[in-house]
Amino acid sequence: MLTRGPGHAAVAAALWSPRDPATFEGLVHYATLAANSHNAQAWRFRRTAEGVAILPDLGRALPVADPDDHHLYASMGCAAENLALAAGAAGRSAMLDFMPEGHGRVTVALGRDGAPDPLFHAILERQCTRSIYDGRAVPAADLAALEAAARIDGAEVMLITDPARIAQVLELVLAANAAQVANPAFAAELKSWLRFNARAAIAAGDGLHSAASGNPSLPGFLGRFMFDRFFNVAAENDRYARQLRSSAGLAVIHSARNDAAHWVQAGRSCQRFALQATALGIRHAHLNQPVEVAATRAQLQSLLGLGDRRPDMLLRFGHAPPMPRSLRRPVAAVIDP
Ligand SMILES: Cc1cc2nc3c(=O)[nH]c(=O)nc-3n(C[C@H](O)[C@H](O)[C@H](O)COP(=O)(O)O)c2cc1C
Repeated sequence: MLTRGPGHAAVAAALWSPRDPATFEGLVHYATLAANSHNAQAWRFRRTAEGVAILPDLGRALPVADPDDHHLYASMGCAAENLALAAGAAGRSAMLDFMPEGHGRVTVALGRDGAPDPLFHAILERQCTRSIYDGRAVPAADLAALEAAARIDGAEVMLITDPARIAQVLELVLAANAAQVANPAFAAELKSWLRFNARAAIAAGDGLHSAASGNPSLPGFLGRFMFDRFFNVAAENDRYARQLRSSAGLAVIHSARNDAAHWVQAGRSCQRFALQATALGIRHAHLNQPVEVAATRAQLQSLLGLGDRRPDMLLRFGHAPPMPRSLRRPVAAVIDP
């Protein structure tokens, strides 16, 4: 007889729950709950004499959406930030560094005398919320707290709340989105990471679950058919325009240099922004199209007066109810023997 496993909500609740941050597995658990591109989880964790190394899993790279692996290293930075916060919660210090040899790795040297950071408590609550927000503004004190949380060595956030400037950035979002959606290779890569129903999301433990984007649950064959039929420039641009117009503002993570070490720093800054927003009851979602397409990235850089600094990630923020959570693979699947 076929037995039904636990449903998506039960699996998500078990995943997004505390572990002991004093253990290696506990640290990796918190690290894997970080934001990451397409929820591809292109990371591996290795125990080292000093603490932990985070390595790229290039078999999970996104060659079309992320041809230079920028997002892959930024996602490793998001994970590294969560891991450092978890170490702090266990009273340990965490010194993060980037070693460029080979494909590069983030090293985390664990020490004694770590101080807990309140952002740790937001790790289990954080989520990307890809819905229409309620349009309410974010108070100036909260904006200042977001800027302060995201400011780290080599990377920081620029917040945009001026409607005229938001409208200018929206034009770049729509131009970049149109270029991506019209590219069959981009659509095929995205489709391979979509999980059209709870069963597929639970079985894979990765990818983009339709419910987390507000889409209906469908059998896989029907989901793929509907995607082929309805994933088009007009529909996608309309959705992003409505989402952005409902938001309180935009956040641009930008970094001092365009290299893998700074992509990691940008990821850390982005994760801290997301955690601080969560702690303040502010939702966020990524709108990275204009930083993924080289031509619009240059236009965004110039529009925002960033000079040589690279715009790494673009997010919107505001207020909305939570959405269904996304899932992760088990910790054992991402630990190097
Ligand atoms: C570097 C990076 C790029 C991302 N790009 C996008 C994006 O363009 N669009 C989007 O909706 N989400 C984007 N995300 C969010 C991920 O899809 C999300 O973190 C992942 O699906 C896991 O979901 P969760 O953050 O709610 O746990 C990005 C995240 C990172 C770290």
